[in-house]
Amino acid sequence: MKKILITRKLLKENEEKLKELFEVILNPDDKIYSQEELIKKSKDCDGILSSVSDQINKDTISKLSAKIKIIANGAVGFGNIDIDAAKQKGIAVTNTPDVLTDATADIAILLLLGASRRALEGRIAAENQNWKWSFDFLLGKQMSNKTLGILGMGRIGRAVAKRARGFNMQIHYHNRKKLPNDLEEGAVFHKDVKSLFANSEFLSINCPANSETTKIVNEDTLKHLLPNCVVANSARGDIVDDEAMIKALKSKKVFAYGLDVYNGEPKIHPEYLKLKNIFLLPHLGSATKRTRWDMLYRATKNLEMFFNGEKPKDLVN
Ligand code: DGY
Repeated sequence: MKKILITRKLLKENEEKLKELFEVILNPDDKIYSQEELIKKSKDCDGILSSVSDQINKDTISKLSAKIKIIANGAVGFGNIDIDAAKQKGIAVTNTPDVLTDATADIAILLLLGASRRALEGRIAAENQNWKWSFDFLLGKQMSNKTLGILGMGRIGRAVAKRARGFNMQIHYHNRKKLPNDLEEGAVFHKDVKSLFANSEFLSINCPANSETTKIVNEDTLKHLLPNCVVANSARGDIVDDEAMIKALKSKKVFAYGLDVYNGEPKIHPEYLKLKNIFLLPHLGSATKRTRWDMLYRATKNLEMFFNGEKPKDLVN
């Protein structure tokens, strides 16, 4: 039986399935392993089932046992793994696309609404019983009939667009390539980020995190946003330059920012916590029971296919 290190505690049913198929090292305390611990614990393993909280960089990969042949990441994003270094070492890397598209797109809409309608401020006022209805109490920005810029029109970006059409929003997007008409569904393509920003009253960040997108939302690009724009990030923290965003929030260039993902998670930039025009969630994008089960099922399937000598469905390197 092949041996797999499972870096985090999984849903019980997923752990049971993995136990039927492999010899597993589980993590019942759900401790987040340091790089040294990950290297040590995976020493005799043939594969790793990892999560977004594992930073498997070039250095870690170079120190992994030569026995390890696959890292099945239990996430659609794989910016936490150096996939080129893994490939060079002969380690296959897989992800879990499709199954979390709807859950993540739902959260993107929640972030846009929560930020634009000042939901956190409202919750705090209600909790403190410190409010009364009045004509100018916690006035927000209406999402209906506005333009929505989508940065990254992959599966999740397109699912956000689908939902936003229900708000009668006009969709603009930036992607590496223009989409075919049937996938665009009337959305307006922008070749560069600045042009997208100049047409966005609302903006949803949905691109993958990689060397091309790191801090793509920065002081220079933010300048081009329409004034009072509402921004939501359900992708990855590294796509946004936090200092530049904080400046834009303070100057109200950005009306409000809804975010589910952070640079250096689970830490949150302390300035975000001081700002009122912010709507924060703790990386809940894929957090529904059905979605998490599906993600782990898919990661298990990738391991199974790989060790059966087949090409795993979701190979990314
Ligand atoms: C993913 O799959 O990349 C999500 O961010 C995990 O919640």
